[in-house]
Amino acid sequence: MSDTQPIKDKVIVITGASSGIGEATAKHLASLGAKVVLGARRAEKLETICIAITDAGGSATYKVTDVVELESVTALAAHAIDQFGPIDVLINNAGINTLGAIDKLQVEAWNRMIDVNIKGPLNGIAAVLPSMQARGSGHIITTSSIVAHQGMSLMAVYSGTKAAIRFIHDGLRQEVGGSIRVSMVSPGGAYTEIGTDDDPEALEHLMKEFEGLTLLDPLDVARAFAFAISQPASVDINEIIVRPTAQQA
Ligand SMILES: NC(=O)c1ccc[n+]([C@@H]2O[C@H](COP(=O)([O-])OP(=O)(O)OC[C@H]3O[C@@H](n4cnc5c(N)ncnc54)[C@H](OP(=O)(O)O)[C@@H]3O)[C@@H](O)[C@H]2O)c1
Repeated sequence: MSDTQPIKDKVIVITGASSGIGEATAKHLASLGAKVVLGARRAEKLETICIAITDAGGSATYKVTDVVELESVTALAAHAIDQFGPIDVLINNAGINTLGAIDKLQVEAWNRMIDVNIKGPLNGIAAVLPSMQARGSGHIITTSSIVAHQGMSLMAVYSGTKAAIRFIHDGLRQEVGGSIRVSMVSPGGAYTEIGTDDDPEALEHLMKEFEGLTLLDPLDVARAFAFAISQPASVDINEIIVRPTAQQA
């Protein structure tokens, strides 16, 4: 029987690490001994999180990153290598969700979701894949969503972006799976900042859907990343779906 891998000393790059699931994942993996490299746009938040991690005895660094720009993600990867050495794991976690019915024609918001949620992870893959292939090892994980499995009203474009990533990942896994692991973590509703600055009408509708539900704590999702990473090198957890127990859809 093969053993699980220690997370200690793994170099793990996490995008969207300035809040919510990314922040919780950075803190959790650092508490397990990983050297974490945080990327997002808000420098102040990243700095505060890195200080909290290092104060707790962990290893963390950050670089302001916009996942929409390939050069920015490449610079994040270069920063990770410079500070901690070769990247063992990339977590493509940055994502946005603008709620709204399709007939509201929020065309700019649609394009932005496509940029951040699809092109963002692709930029992440482009930034780390060549060096992972050269080393013959590595792990690419993307935060998808349960809505990658079934479309949802008021989230039609968002669910389309998450479904696109699911298919991109499956193709990537078949191409590079001989040496590089490819995983997705697909959460249900979690208490984070996502969607909270949206169209109030759509937000109210969603709040009604979630009424009485205890949503996921971001740490619940962070533990799913840790599980996937800690499996033996010969085991690739392709996807973990993690829902609040009482969430039906
Ligand atoms: N919360 C849920 O219910 C839920 C359910 C399923 C899936 N998800 C997925 O979980 C992931 C994390 O979201 P969250 O729920 O934790 O929400 P969140 O608290 O809003 O976190 C989103 C993160 O993405 C970053 N981000 C947004 N645009 C970016 C850009 N252009 N470049 C770099 N970073 C960017 C944000 O940082 P900056 O603003 O500082 O850049 C922030 O750190 C997303 O992929 C989301 O789709 C969430």
